[in-house]
Amino acid sequence: MRLSGLTAFVTGGGDGIGRAIAICFAREGARVAIADLDCARATSVEAEIASAGGSALALRADVRSTADVDAAVRQAVARFGALDIVVNNAAVAFPGDPATMPDEDWQRVIDTNLTSAFRVIRAALPHLRQRQGGSIINIASAQAHRSWANWTAYAAAKGGLISMTRQLAGQLGAENIRVNSISPGAINTPMNERRAASEGPELISKLAGQHVLLRLGTPEEVAAVAVLLASPEGGFISGADIAVDGGLSALPRYHET
Ligand SMILES: NC(=O)c1ccc[n+]([C@@H]2O[C@H](COP(=O)([O-])OP(=O)(O)OC[C@H]3O[C@@H](n4cnc5c(N)ncnc54)[C@H](O)[C@@H]3O)[C@@H](O)[C@H]2O)c1
Repeated sequence: MRLSGLTAFVTGGGDGIGRAIAICFAREGARVAIADLDCARATSVEAEIASAGGSALALRADVRSTADVDAAVRQAVARFGALDIVVNNAAVAFPGDPATMPDEDWQRVIDTNLTSAFRVIRAALPHLRQRQGGSIINIASAQAHRSWANWTAYAAAKGGLISMTRQLAGQLGAENIRVNSISPGAINTPMNERRAASEGPELISKLAGQHVLLRLGTPEEVAAVAVLLASPEGGFISGADIAVDGGLSALPRYHET
């Protein structure tokens, strides 16, 4: 019960990595608000946590909307009385040729994957300050560290998230608010299932081959690091970007053939 007495707010907690983080946090004793565009998925995670004896609240929120984010943070605090941990996890992933990518696609990626985190942090900060401490965890990506053709917008958003993490860690450290990011490699989630459906089933073995461990990671392997960063055991970690990438970023640049 490493998160006993703490309250967490997880965006995109209805599926994939966010779902695993919500469930692992609850298992460690946290009360968890699950904010997701897909309310049905968030509600099913809430039910799963409740049936295991945990405490959760499903909230419908589009992280592209300031009104939605503000309302969701307000509702979480109204239900649980405090906020200690924020996980900025919701994102979209799609490629775009930099020679032709329309503005709307660029904006959608930056808005969903980067500006969203700013919105959530802005809404959460007064509540973290009230607790005189907290942990902000931004889910970045190995894509911020390595080059893959046509992932310009996604990589730019994730790189921005890592820079924002460092900047805020410096600014908020004196207030006992820690800010870190996690950069996963390819993880077995619906995000990659959708990519395999559109890019072809061979995508999964191709992705696996880019990792030293020759497999995709599991959402639970990312969640385990989020638990560490959220818990008092991670109390001296701030401004860090932790790779959970099966050794991918230890290899030289990957060349698509
Ligand atoms: N899966 C991977 O291989 C991988 C690798 C590196 C980084 N990541 C990052 O991990 C995070 C989670 O990825 P995943 O694979 O679990 O994704 P996923 O697509 O499987 O799940 C994402 C969740 O976010 C929700 N969501 C999407 N847009 C939203 C919005 N506008 N507002 C609120 N909720 C929204 C979805 O409904 C879904 O429940 C993302 O930040 C992603 O960029 C994933």
